[in-house]
Amino acid sequence: MLENKKFFIQTQGCQMNEYDSDRLGDVLQHNLKMMETNNPEDADMLLLNTCSIREKAQEKVFHQLGRWKKLKIKKPNLLIAVGGCVASQEGKKIRSRSPEVDIIFGPQTIHRLPKMIENIVYKRKKIEIDINFPEIEKFDYLPFSTKSAPTACLSIMEGCSKYCTFCVVPYTRGEEVNRRFDDILCEANSLIKLGAKEITLLGQNVNAYRSLNNKKQHVSFSDLIRYISHIKGIERIRYSTSHPVDFTDDLIQEHHNTKLANNLHLPVQSGSDFILSRMKRKHTVLEYKNIIKKVRKIRPDINLTSDFIVGYPGESDYQFQQTLDFIEELNFSNAYSFIYSPRPGTPASFEKDNISMDTKKKRLKNLQELIKNQSLSYAKKMLDTKQRVLVEGISVKRNNELYGRSDNNKVINFNAGTKHIGDFVDIYITEVRLNSLYGEVIDTVEKKKACN
Ligand code: SAH
Ligand code: F3S
Repeated sequence: MLENKKFFIQTQGCQMNEYDSDRLGDVLQHNLKMMETNNPEDADMLLLNTCSIREKAQEKVFHQLGRWKKLKIKKPNLLIAVGGCVASQEGKKIRSRSPEVDIIFGPQTIHRLPKMIENIVYKRKKIEIDINFPEIEKFDYLPFSTKSAPTACLSIMEGCSKYCTFCVVPYTRGEEVNRRFDDILCEANSLIKLGAKEITLLGQNVNAYRSLNNKKQHVSFSDLIRYISHIKGIERIRYSTSHPVDFTDDLIQEHHNTKLANNLHLPVQSGSDFILSRMKRKHTVLEYKNIIKKVRKIRPDINLTSDFIVGYPGESDYQFQQTLDFIEELNFSNAYSFIYSPRPGTPASFEKDNISMDTKKKRLKNLQELIKNQSLSYAKKMLDTKQRVLVEGISVKRNNELYGRSDNNKVINFNAGTKHIGDFVDIYITEVRLNSLYGEVIDTVEKKKACN
């Protein structure tokens, strides 16, 4: 009865959610023989993979469910499932606010979804809820991806045990759990066989990764990078996200590995030691600077990006200025920045939020202005340079253009025939804009020069 039924997945939030949604699609196709559709109107089942990192993200969930309710009125057998961090945080409360929801599952129970769907369809259950955190069981039950693509993501660990005072992740995704080393290598092999040339290792804190290999020897995150870089066919490795506390010297030294891409996203949140300690980030500004100094010794032009929170409860003008000074000194190539958003149950949410929204907005604007300038000057340095780009596909905005990413993770657009998709090509950068770079395939540039 479920075979050939169509499902539609909408994903909100981070790369981990994108990854989970892909695996969700795999498991529904593999276990239930359902088919994926890009059109929600055409679907027999709608799945929403949610994010609760900030209040705004969470509100989006209920807006979306409101829109899907209308589809269910037209098609009463339509199934609606809500997964991800809001599902984990709110559980059955979602059903009280949106009674049209049939299934609620958490980030660690996506592999149990086929059973939950069968219970609704065959056993006529009214509602299925499973938001448990079964230890890593998820990966033992998920089929490997069968999609072929030049770039792929690989989850190496789940959850987070850092408990930064503002963050909801340890409560919604659970504590840090590492996947088995051999399982990761096996999945990396399988992705490479499917055509992946670049793999991004994913996790909330990938550099906290620790495990044992098949000889029961301890292996670290840098060991994992090194092992993967030796697999035949792999050309580039990225990782996201890392944490300053676990940024050990062996990981810094691993940046000599030429397969490791030239970008580093290392969230810092604030440039004030006082605020960092109140956030329980467990490191100082100086420790962060030292990591960057050492990494830049090996990779002077690394694309360094970070995350910042402005308006943390009690953040003074002086402490905010310390953040601006810190940004000025470190010179980031880009950053995500957010106004602090109190999350239910987190320690910071019990603190008095004494900063006006007006001040928070002004601080955010100042910080973003500074980052924008740094970002543009980093990109400008790429003008007239040669970049090795892995071509990912046809540009969504302009169909006659292809796009890909350079080693330092910048999106590069260029004109060329589709035969380049999935290949590495050398691109000469001809134009730099704030969020995009344009270039020409070196071969074409050479030919033009020869004609002139
Ligand atoms: N694991 C990562 C980040 C996870 S969340 C780390 O090591 O920090 C992604 C980013 O969202 C965070 O870095 C932080 O800047 C932001 N964020 C998390 N909780 C937030 C909150 N309550 N309010 C505003 N921003 C928040
Ligand atoms: Fe969140 Fe801090 Fe972990 S920001 S994901 S608790 S490192």
